[in-house]
Amino acid sequence: MKEFPKDFLWGGAIAANQAEGAWNEDGKGPAISDVYRNGIVGGHFDGEVHEEHFYASHEAIDFYHRYKEDIALLAESGIKCFRTSIAWSRIFPNGDEEEPNEKGLQFYDDLFNEILKYGIEPVITISHFEIPLNLILKYDGWKNRQLIGFYERYARTIITRYKDKVKYWMNFNEINHFHTIPLAAGGILIKDEEQKLQDIYQASHHVFVASALAKKLCHEISPDAKMGCMLSLSPIYPHTCNPDDIFDSYELRRRSLFYSDVMIRGYYPSYAKRIWKEHGISVVMENGDLELIKENTVDYLGFSYYRSSTHKAGMPILGNTGGIIGLENPYLEKTEWGWPIDPKGLRYVCNELYDRYQIPLFIVENGYGGRDEIDENGEIHDDARIDYIRKHLIQLQEAIEDGCEVIGYTWWGPIDIVSAGTGEMEKRYGYIYVDKDNDGNGTLERRKKKSFGWYKNVIETDGRALYERNVKK
Ligand code: BG6
Repeated sequence: MKEFPKDFLWGGAIAANQAEGAWNEDGKGPAISDVYRNGIVGGHFDGEVHEEHFYASHEAIDFYHRYKEDIALLAESGIKCFRTSIAWSRIFPNGDEEEPNEKGLQFYDDLFNEILKYGIEPVITISHFEIPLNLILKYDGWKNRQLIGFYERYARTIITRYKDKVKYWMNFNEINHFHTIPLAAGGILIKDEEQKLQDIYQASHHVFVASALAKKLCHEISPDAKMGCMLSLSPIYPHTCNPDDIFDSYELRRRSLFYSDVMIRGYYPSYAKRIWKEHGISVVMENGDLELIKENTVDYLGFSYYRSSTHKAGMPILGNTGGIIGLENPYLEKTEWGWPIDPKGLRYVCNELYDRYQIPLFIVENGYGGRDEIDENGEIHDDARIDYIRKHLIQLQEAIEDGCEVIGYTWWGPIDIVSAGTGEMEKRYGYIYVDKDNDGNGTLERRKKKSFGWYKNVIETDGRALYERNVKK
C-alpha cells in the first residue's frame, strides 16, 4: 500500500480577501478586491465603492470575527498546515504610509497564535490579489518602481513581527496571471492595449526585484524560514500533433514559466530577449537589480493546479482563475463551472517542474468548485468533490514515486469562501459549508460536509484511505 511521507504538509488554503470580510474595520484601507463587483474575471472595477451595490468580499464569511471557531473546525479535520494571506491594506491601509497599523498587525498575531495552538503550520502569502487600492489609483501599481519600496517595507514589517510564528512565506499569489488577469494578479491597470506587453514586462521586473528583497529579508530576519514563489501552473497541451500547435503551446507555457524561471534560476531566460525584441519592449532596470535577483532565488515553488487546457496555434490567449482557457478536450469531464478535470495533469506538471528546477514543490491550491445541496437529514454528500480530490491525490502520490520532491498539499477553500473569479458564494470548494448565498443572505452557520471526514481519514492514514472504496462520513 502506498503512503505519503510522514512529514507531508497536508493542509487547507484560503486568502484574506475571500474570507475575512471586515473590509473597513480596525483601520483597514480599501484593497482592489473590495471594489470589484462580481469577481476579478469579467467583473466590474471602477476603483470606487458604491453604496447601492453588493460587494461579496465586504463581509465574505466573516472569518475576521469567527476565525477561532473556523480554526477549531479545521484543526479537527487534522490538517498540518494552513495557508492564508495577510491583507496588505490592514497593515498599510494606503500602502504608502511610513508606520503600520497596529490593529491590523495584532489581528494576524492573534490568528497565527490560534493556528499554532493546534500545532498547525501557518503558510502565508504576502500579496494575494488584494493590493491596497491607493497603490493602483495614485501610483499606477507595479508599473511604478516606487512599489518596490512600499512592498519591501510591508514585507519587512510582517516578517519581523511574525518571525517566531511563520516559517513558510510566499511572495505573490499566481504572479504568472499577469497576462490574463493583470489587475488582480499583477497590480496593473491596462489602459492601452498597445502598451500592454511593455507594461507587463516592466511591472514584472519590479515584482522580481521586490521578491528578491523579500527573500533576502526573510533569510536575514528569520533564518530558518523559507520564501517561496507561487504560480498558477495548470498545464497547456497542444490541441493536435501539428508542430505549429506544439510550438505555440510551448511558447504559451513559457509565459507562465518565465516567472518561475527568473525567481528560481535567478536570471532572465534567453527566450525573453526575443519576445522583447520582437515586441519593441525595453525594460528599465537599475544597477544592482540583476545581482539582487541572482543572489536571492526562492526556496520552493508553490503552485495552484485546477485543470489542464489545450491550445491551438494562433488562438487568442484567454484565461481565468483556473489558468488558460483552452479548447474542448474530448478526454476530460468538466466541473459545473466548465473546468476540465484532469488528475493526471497534476502528475505531469509535478514532473515537468521538478525536471526543470529540482527544488521542493508545494501544491498550495487544488480543489473542486461546485454547488452543494443540504438533504433532509441536514447532510451534504459532496461525492463529486471527494472524487476530484481523491483522483488528484493519487496522481500526486505517483509524482512523488516518480521522484518529485513534494512537501505538501493544501486543499483550496477547505471552508467555503467567496470565489475570486466570479464573486459567487455558491461556487463552493469547502469540506466545511458556510450558510450564505450569492446575494449575501444566510446565517453564516458552519456545517461539515461528507468530505470533511473523508479528508481527515486521508490525512490520518498518510494517504492510505485514498484506496478505500467505502468512504467514512
Ligand atoms: C486561484 C486563486 O486563481 O484560483 C484563488 O489563487 C481562487 O484566489 C482560486 O479562489 C479558484 O478560483 P475561483 O474563481 O473559483 O475562486
